[in-house]
Amino acid sequence: KEIYDKGLRYERPRFTFQTTKWQALAEERMSAEAKGYVVGNAGDGETARKNSEAFAKWSIVPQRLVKTDGLPDLSVDVLGQRHPFPIAVAPVGVQRIFHGEGELASAAAAARENVPYVMSTASSTSIENVAEANGVGVRWFQLYWPTNEHNDITASILQRAKASGFTTLFVTLDTYILGWRPSDMDNGYNPFLRSDNIGVAIGFSDPVFRSKFKAKHGVEIEQDLHTAASEWTGTVFPSLSHGWEDIKFLQDNWDGPIVLKGIQTVADARKCVEHGVQGIVVSNHGGRQVNGGVGSLGMLPRIVDAVGDKLDIFFDSGIRNGADIAKAMALGAQMCLVGRPYVYGLALGGEDGVSHVLKSLLGELELTLHLAGIQSASPEHLNREILIREDQ
Ligand code: FNR
Repeated sequence: KEIYDKGLRYERPRFTFQTTKWQALAEERMSAEAKGYVVGNAGDGETARKNSEAFAKWSIVPQRLVKTDGLPDLSVDVLGQRHPFPIAVAPVGVQRIFHGEGELASAAAAARENVPYVMSTASSTSIENVAEANGVGVRWFQLYWPTNEHNDITASILQRAKASGFTTLFVTLDTYILGWRPSDMDNGYNPFLRSDNIGVAIGFSDPVFRSKFKAKHGVEIEQDLHTAASEWTGTVFPSLSHGWEDIKFLQDNWDGPIVLKGIQTVADARKCVEHGVQGIVVSNHGGRQVNGGVGSLGMLPRIVDAVGDKLDIFFDSGIRNGADIAKAMALGAQMCLVGRPYVYGLALGGEDGVSHVLKSLLGELELTLHLAGIQSASPEHLNREILIREDQ
């Protein structure tokens, strides 16, 4: 409504509302490395394409003459809290390569739009500074989980996140090593191992990592940045070193909800229930890890049927507009994580660009539901009855 009201006053927006243009416009402003990193996928991008195609298989069926009191209520209950909107900002690393203010801008925008901010372990800004930029916003912390041999570092990171007001822990399980990403490989780009060490802010500011490094090498991190970056990368991308039994360590060291990110099978979703975690993110990391894998939305209904009444289900991978959010929620997600679109907003205009993207997606969702006769984003109204599969 606010957007159309501005139009009535002939005010032109600073950024386009055409969601399909954000990527191309952002590409014009990014370095080759930044572009390759955000736009790139695993392999030839088959799974990333399947992520988008999975949405097109479902269609919304609009209902008519549904009396309403106004625009639909978009609020949802997630992890025991009421949130005004059903989206959160997905964890994305090294954001300073997209815009000078990086995570500070996106965390401020999330707070401005009343959307939770999920901070990545691979951020280019420290935990404490992101918390400050996020202010009174809702913030959640995403962990790249150090090996068991570095449990003291994990405990230190969790402690810092808690002290800085992060309330929920997202643990990413699909990235214990980076995927086969030809666009980064062609650029000779490792997001965490550049000369400016931009993706290692959390490690380099961590007192336990610092003191272990000094004990081992006899020098401060600043005296041997390359070795330190390499060691930090080896710590948080430990290849395959954890099993389900290790979840307990996280539970013992975190007193809020725990959400496991990267779940793609019913069997794993059931294990999450057995191990007492509060939520999962049905996600394939935007098709950046396993190429040839299934489109993320394709797995959502089965996982919802198996465990939807036992834990909270987040969804990501392929959300590009308001209708996509509506479809994922109708299929049983409680909340969607927005990934690449807000990174394009960040590249286009820092905090204002991210705000614009979040607001656009929510505005489009609101009108889509309203025009389809769906009275709210709660499962009572937004459920599978509003969808048909056109290929069956
Ligand atoms: C990511 N993603 C990600 N996930 C995570 O848990 N920790 C991280 O540090 C990152 N970093 C990251 C960087 C970039 C540039 C991208 C595009 C993605 C994955 C992210 O949280 C989310 O799962 C995907 O972005 C969802 O896919 P789409 O919708 O962006 O295609």
